[in-house]
Amino acid sequence: MQSGFRLFPEQASTFAPQVDYLYGFLIAVTTFFTGLIVVLVVGFAIKYRRRPGREEAEHTETGMGLELLWTAIPSVLVLVMFVWGAALFLAESVPPKGAQDIYVVGRQWMWKVQHPNGRREINELHVAAGRAVKLTLASQDVVHSFYIPAFRIKQDAIPGQYRTMWFQPTQPGEYHLFCAEYCGTDHSRMIGRIVVMEDIDYQKWLGGVTEQTPVEEGRELFVQLDCISCHGTGSRQRCPPLGNLFGKQEQLENGQTVPVDEAYVRESILEPKAKIVRGYEPVMPSFNGQVTEEQILALIAYIKSLAPEPSEQPEKVQR
Ligand code: CUA
Repeated sequence: MQSGFRLFPEQASTFAPQVDYLYGFLIAVTTFFTGLIVVLVVGFAIKYRRRPGREEAEHTETGMGLELLWTAIPSVLVLVMFVWGAALFLAESVPPKGAQDIYVVGRQWMWKVQHPNGRREINELHVAAGRAVKLTLASQDVVHSFYIPAFRIKQDAIPGQYRTMWFQPTQPGEYHLFCAEYCGTDHSRMIGRIVVMEDIDYQKWLGGVTEQTPVEEGRELFVQLDCISCHGTGSRQRCPPLGNLFGKQEQLENGQTVPVDEAYVRESILEPKAKIVRGYEPVMPSFNGQVTEEQILALIAYIKSLAPEPSEQPEKVQR
């Protein structure tokens, strides 16, 4: 967060230069053609103006070659824009394996953040430089949007859905966080900061927490809400076992196969009858209204922990 006028925010993530190159290309192309068209319009208006001896326009045939040329050039240019933009969009959409999982819940009018070791913060997000971070965004009320200009990324937080976004900060510093979707009276004050630290400082900052981790909180809820009596190992298994399930595919009663991801687990908690697993009865009650978004995220973290990824320790991701 530096003072003084600057045309662009700092470039503080691996995406930032890439987005700026694309933006520069779009601006260059549109500026060039705007200029060209203005020059031609004005130039031809003068050249072919009405004057004595030339009162009426002359009819001319346009050459086929010219037609093809001015169709081909814009087509190629917009294709380049499309392919370039789509590639960047895909890169921004798919978090790398091993990215650090951080949960973010938006509500009127604050951002609530929880780190994997349980540390919570509000309107602030501490991360380590050089380490890929995956945010899972939920909203407790209306649509918000998590926007970090210095990272050139933005993602909506939508009630009833999960959205993910990821980034890899490149340099320590403090950067603006904005809510970029009008969400009510104090939308403009729904701001915060992203603190990027050296890895070693970040570990220090994370350490010494006595708060429950999301996994621990989820495990506790699993017992409190009595999920365990049906889903637990050693129960009579009227419900699908949850061990080693997350990240796999689940066979449904209607013949479909669905990936077991955050959205699927969330739906199964709130609307258990939406997708019935093959071989099971629709006996589970809905927990809609009984759990908060944060509790659902904790339950998901717990179910996720029952299916550990090959590399449990998030590693630095090189791009
Ligand atoms: Cu939240 Cu605007």
